[in-house]
Amino acid sequence: MVILMLNKLQQEIIKLKKEKNAIILAHNYQPKEIQEIADFLGDSLELCIKATEIEDKDLVIFCGVDFMAETAYILNPQKKIVIPDKEAECPMAHMLDMEEIREAKKKHSDAAVVLYVNSLATAKAEADILCTSSNALKVVESLKEDKILFGPDNNLANYVAKQTKKEIIPIPEGGHCYVHKMFHVGDVVFKKEKHPNAELIVHPECNMEVQKLADHVLSTGGMLNQVKNSDSEEFIIGTEIDLITRINREIPEKKCYPLLDDAICKTMKLHTLDKVKNSLENEKYEVFVEEEIAKKSLNAVERMIEVSK
Ligand code: 13P
Ligand code: SF4
Repeated sequence: MVILMLNKLQQEIIKLKKEKNAIILAHNYQPKEIQEIADFLGDSLELCIKATEIEDKDLVIFCGVDFMAETAYILNPQKKIVIPDKEAECPMAHMLDMEEIREAKKKHSDAAVVLYVNSLATAKAEADILCTSSNALKVVESLKEDKILFGPDNNLANYVAKQTKKEIIPIPEGGHCYVHKMFHVGDVVFKKEKHPNAELIVHPECNMEVQKLADHVLSTGGMLNQVKNSDSEEFIIGTEIDLITRINREIPEKKCYPLLDDAICKTMKLHTLDKVKNSLENEKYEVFVEEEIAKKSLNAVERMIEVSK
């Protein structure tokens, strides 16, 4: 059990949250002080599912990046969803636009379009179904088509391609996450030498050479569960460093080492306690997706949630 000593600002946030009948949803990459005031912490899929269970709340504060908050909006267009810092964007999500998907569809008219949830709402509107890092293979296998246009993360596309007989066509060329691209074989060798008994767990956004060396390739939620359920006592974690903050808070008896100390998603860190307080007080900054785009994307989001059950 996590025993919390909240500071004054955190206590004010908790009080405001009650007054406003608000809920704070936060991604696993949020810093400790935000993790401590969140009502729900999770990976992308867990956050999507949680966003379908918030009917009783009047206000949703989303501490994550743009595509996550937009997905929560797509599932709840009647609700007020706010993001504490509106600059919190995922650069990978911006690597694939609607036009590029339409072009790819023209070239491969027999292919289904599977989009990583890390994509823009306008791109999602072109997808048959979405996926996250925890269900990508399951989603691909659920489709009748044998040819799949898959974007925007090329590493996740290759991770799926390695495990399916279907043809996976990554779009766009070079789509990647700059944080997970930072990990190289040399980092694995270095950390393995230091911690020879540690299990290596990496995210599917990592380069394939790094994935190949890992004991497990998992979403951030999957990593947390692996650390919880494994008999190992030590782990090298190849993802954004604040996942380890969550693991340390919840499973302090296990030792986790970051594959790289500076694997930091800068935009995830734009949210601060002051900004969370402001977002509660002033109901800012409201997330909005154009009605037609939201309606078109909803089908792909709901289909993914259905497949994940
Ligand atoms: P997860 O869904 O595994 O938390 O991943 C989200 C993400 O943005 C990874 O960089
Ligand atoms: Fe996007 Fe990478 Fe940050 Fe995840 S870690 S939100 S994929 S930039």
